[in-house]
Amino acid sequence: LHRAIAIDGPAASGKSTLARILSQKLGLIMVNSGSMYRAVTWKVLQRGIDPNNREAVVQALRDMELECGVDGMVSTVKVDGVDPGDELRSEEVNAHVSAVSAVPEVRECLVSLQRDFLKLGDVVMEGRDIGSVVFPETPYKIYMDADPNVREARREEVGEVDSVAARDHADSRRETAPLKIADGAAILDTSGHTIESGVAAALEILRG
Ligand code: CDP
Repeated sequence: LHRAIAIDGPAASGKSTLARILSQKLGLIMVNSGSMYRAVTWKVLQRGIDPNNREAVVQALRDMELECGVDGMVSTVKVDGVDPGDELRSEEVNAHVSAVSAVPEVRECLVSLQRDFLKLGDVVMEGRDIGSVVFPETPYKIYMDADPNVREARREEVGEVDSVAARDHADSRRETAPLKIADGAAILDTSGHTIESGVAAALEILRG
């Protein structure tokens, strides 16, 4: 049973845009796994815990209640009953999410919650380790990339300037589940693509 499309890639490679459109076109639940890492990071910061202190982060993880769901075919995440909303994309969370997501216990917990989405329906899930760790058995894997200058320009548009390169660096180098091209993934470079032509290329990949 192949019920998951896995989309991985660095920041601003176009994952969210592609996942949203595929979700609408194919009727799949769209799961942004990054918001789950961001939600844990948000809570860690809110509690005044040092995001680089692994033991404290693990303790905070045990103390928080994470609740995932779906609203209108899009994944939602609540921490201790609260949806952090726009705060998930704050500068502070941007700056610390890579450290928190490098903690193996955090990944173990979130990967399990990510797999649970299949209980709610078929999914298109985007992140860094979806094809390699979360759904290694799915034949539908896309690794998205784009020229660093193109990615930087896209991020400046939404106001993230300083932390993209640092996140990419940390996400690729960490020991647990580093960003990499999963076995069997097709590479889609979106540098020269419009949104439409990128979606067309992705559909071609998925149809084999
Ligand atoms: O939207 P963007 O690609 O910039 O980031 P995101 O998907 O919101 O992910 C934020 C951060 O969460 C990444 O920089 C990673 O550190 C972490 N992450 C991860 O480790 N594994 C995932 N499957 C998804 C995100």
